[in-house]
Amino acid sequence: MVDRRERPLIVGSGIAGLYVALRCRELGLRPTVVTKGRLEEANTRYAQGGIAAAVGPDDTVARHFADTVRAGAGLVDRAAARVLTGEAPARIADLVRYGVPFDTVDGRIALGREAAHTRARLLHAGGDATGSSIEETLKRRVLEAGIEARERTSLRALLPGGKEGPVPVLSAPDGSGIEVDQPRPVLVATGGVGSLYRQSTNPSVTTGEGIAIAFRAGALVSDMEFVQFHPTAFAREGAPRFLITEALRGEGAVLRNEAGERFLVGRHPDAELAPRDVVARAIQEELVRSGRLHVLLDATALPRDRLFARFPSVTNFLLAYGLDPSREPIPVAPVAHYMIGGVSTDLEGRSSLPGLYAAGEAAATGVHGANRLGSNSLVEGLVFGERAARQLRHPAPGGPAAPERVIDVRPPAGEGRPEERASFEAIRSALWEEVGIVRSGPALRGALARFEELARRTAPARAGAYAGPVANAALTAGLIARAALARTESRGAHFRTDFPRPLPAWRRHLGLRLRAPARRRP
Ligand code: FUM
Repeated sequence: MVDRRERPLIVGSGIAGLYVALRCRELGLRPTVVTKGRLEEANTRYAQGGIAAAVGPDDTVARHFADTVRAGAGLVDRAAARVLTGEAPARIADLVRYGVPFDTVDGRIALGREAAHTRARLLHAGGDATGSSIEETLKRRVLEAGIEARERTSLRALLPGGKEGPVPVLSAPDGSGIEVDQPRPVLVATGGVGSLYRQSTNPSVTTGEGIAIAFRAGALVSDMEFVQFHPTAFAREGAPRFLITEALRGEGAVLRNEAGERFLVGRHPDAELAPRDVVARAIQEELVRSGRLHVLLDATALPRDRLFARFPSVTNFLLAYGLDPSREPIPVAPVAHYMIGGVSTDLEGRSSLPGLYAAGEAAATGVHGANRLGSNSLVEGLVFGERAARQLRHPAPGGPAAPERVIDVRPPAGEGRPEERASFEAIRSALWEEVGIVRSGPALRGALARFEELARRTAPARAGAYAGPVANAALTAGLIARAALARTESRGAHFRTDFPRPLPAWRRHLGLRLRAPARRRP
């Protein structure tokens, strides 16, 4: 009989989940992947710009490290950034070994550029279909390797286990057919929170449930105030907020207001290639000033052939909406894109709970600081996923150091009222309007009170019942609002009108945990 420690449960099927599953298998483990939708329906699939690694002839790991640290607005964990940038090339080699068809020019890897990168260092596949290409390749490999993969299966809870790990509770997404598993190591790779925001580039599966469930189980979470907003999503009434990749600006596209002015020139030395938070806020200010719903991303100066060859996903999407980007500018606006925070882990993917690991967007290593450098997320899933896989093979005690500031959150005393779709939609609107690109104390307080009330109403009232998706969404939204309210400064992706500047005293991470006796690793 196989030892349960050799049968890790991997929750989520984006780049981190699928890669860890493959590596676990190669290391002799018998992983199971569960995912609440289809295997390929993960945020990874929608990544366009590329995957960052210092593999170009004029690039170095030290440069990639320096760019990552600079973009992170004073909060990057330097040890994590050293690991990320130093191990990125080896992890890219793994993707090549698995068969990801990275684009080449004259037989050499083609490299694109994005904001705040001082070198062209984004590997891409199928032009701007990088995420989809990686996701399809990893999915194929997982299925070929005979790894058990259960679709339409949600993690509902993590119960206290023992040395082997927590006890996962699984169900169909509608909550039917609850299955209480055996204690086993669990890796949370459930992605971010984007679709909790009314406007987002993310698919609907990204509701932050893995983070909420780990938190309910007692895991430390951190950096939840840092939600990154992407500056340029397609902004047309009735159309989805489709990502218009930053790599377009890397190729020379520029941002203009309704008067045709390049409003980022003079605002930042790198203009449209300034860090993402700077560009997103500059656009937001233009929108408020003009009363319009979008600014314009002008790619008309790019050679048409090049534009269509390098960005087939974007150009095909736009053509379907009757817009030829070689002839007219693209209406764009900022939307929620990436959760920098999540389940706190150390550099080996270990959470604060024995046997519970996290990787990818669901994890918080501190590597992105307060503002993630574009295209560092796919590679983060691989680099820290590899380390988590090795830990799963050879577990050793450890876990994240608690941040200097940790907020104890009272567990919601539940009333167990039925969940309603309208409540979920109310959360999405409140996060977007009150915990969005520009925040303020009063708005954050109002939103937090509403999220907590909803969390209380919907949390289970009786023992043995498990929180549903709305209860988890309310909890996650509350964690974001609470952290944003506590951080009385502006830094990176977190901007408050009542505290508009970064403060040296806040050059620290912020953790959140349930107000309960902390469980320790043995
Ligand atoms: O613009 C983009 O292609 C986004 C990249 C990223 O979020 O890493």
